[in-house]
Amino acid sequence: MDLDPYRAFRSLFASKTVRSAWAKSYGEQFWEASEPSQSQATVDDIKFITQRLHPSAETKLADLGCGGGCVGRYFASGFGADVEGIDADPLAIRMAEELAVTSGAGHRLRFKTGDVSKTGWRVAPSMARLVWMSCSSWPINGLHCTKLPRILKPGSGFVGTSWELRAESAALHAQAFDDYPGAFKDAGFEIEIYEEIGNWRRLLTDAISAVVAPEDAIRREVEGPAAERLLRWARARPGELDHS
Ligand SMILES: C[S@@+](CC[C@H](N)C(=O)[O-])C[C@H]1O[C@@H](n2cnc3c(N)ncnc32)[C@H](O)[C@@H]1O
Repeated sequence: MDLDPYRAFRSLFASKTVRSAWAKSYGEQFWEASEPSQSQATVDDIKFITQRLHPSAETKLADLGCGGGCVGRYFASGFGADVEGIDADPLAIRMAEELAVTSGAGHRLRFKTGDVSKTGWRVAPSMARLVWMSCSSWPINGLHCTKLPRILKPGSGFVGTSWELRAESAALHAQAFDDYPGAFKDAGFEIEIYEEIGNWRRLLTDAISAVVAPEDAIRREVEGPAAERLLRWARARPGELDHS
């Protein structure tokens, strides 16, 4: 039987083994609305973003690297915000669109496939006020930072999490980049808060160990290349953490 790429992609998020690995290792930091393993957002991350963004029905958010869209859905369903998400992976966008319909907040959510560093992507011009938001664990870099003012309304802000990589990461397919303060300043931003998430290393290391242990169950539950991709990442990433 031919492998359906979207079904394979979705099977990662339906996997009880993957979810329980994340839930057990994150403990009280496990954010129920997250989509493990793609979203590595913790309860504290979401609290931080919420406090900084003050989302409301007046808020217009853009979600960079939105993946399956869990962060945007949270702000649209819980606070009435308008959210536009972009992700380079068409399968993730398909999932985000599907879940938007069942979330009951579909009219506040829009998703597009695109590469943030390359496209001329703009948020809908009807958006009066825009707060740029991202809760991605993919590394943004200097190139992404220079694109932000093109999309943001003057006076609006960026809240996000990203990896600082002091060396190339094979697991994340990313070049080294670690000067976020410099890149944001060059792009015209004032920096309000810039800090390291205190417990990221322990949470990630625990989650990775918990994913690798039930490898056979993951191969049964997650179809095709999605299982291989997850396991490859889980094996390669710990060796890189000294440079992250
Ligand atoms: C780890 S996932 C995070 C998903 C989501 N933000 C969350 O917290 O659940 C990182 C996402 O960034 C996307 N991504 C990576 N590079 C990108 C780029 N240059 N432009 C748009 N999306 C990108 C990937 O396709 C992936 O879905």
